[in-house]
Amino acid sequence: MPDEKAIFAANREWARAMCESEPGFFDRLVNQQEPEYLWIGCSDSRVPASQITGLRPGEVFVHRNIANIVPIDDLNCQAVIQYAVDVLGVKCIVVCGHYGCGGVLAALRGKATGLTGDWISSIVALREQHASDLAALATETERHDRLCELNVIEQVRCLSESEVIKTAWSRGQALQIHAWIYSIKDGLLKNLNTSVGGPIGV
Ligand code: CO
Repeated sequence: MPDEKAIFAANREWARAMCESEPGFFDRLVNQQEPEYLWIGCSDSRVPASQITGLRPGEVFVHRNIANIVPIDDLNCQAVIQYAVDVLGVKCIVVCGHYGCGGVLAALRGKATGLTGDWISSIVALREQHASDLAALATETERHDRLCELNVIEQVRCLSESEVIKTAWSRGQALQIHAWIYSIKDGLLKNLNTSVGGPIGV
């Protein structure tokens, strides 16, 4: 594990390299933040939004939580969405799940307890909603993968019905919502083709 000293050294080297390759890079970022993407992803350490997308500082506003969910009553998540849509004016919200998600597996197995159990209760409900489809799959790995996908699609559905998003669409704001999933096995993103572009279409 890199210690604190090593992390600060790596940070100084990164800042130096950025200045060298792009003079004025930090000066440009100081006074403005105009990201076009809001990324809602899992807290999993193996799914770092910027690194896997190549998006740079200033290009993506990020919210991560266990199992990338967007509860309507979660002040943190909803405030991020409102700020991103109303103030930053992002053009695209990406909900990105990942295969092998521990939060989704806990919901699949009905194993999580305490705060984590409370947090993923909506995925347990989703599992019940799709119980027959999931039961038709042969292995737990397949059921796990499918529930990871269903969870992303469900979050996109919830987002598209949220007041912030509906209000943005009703005033004609161009805003798309995409469902993506990431594979830790090969580092690749997959589009689940469940995009929503709002009543005006984009
Ligand atoms: Co996860």
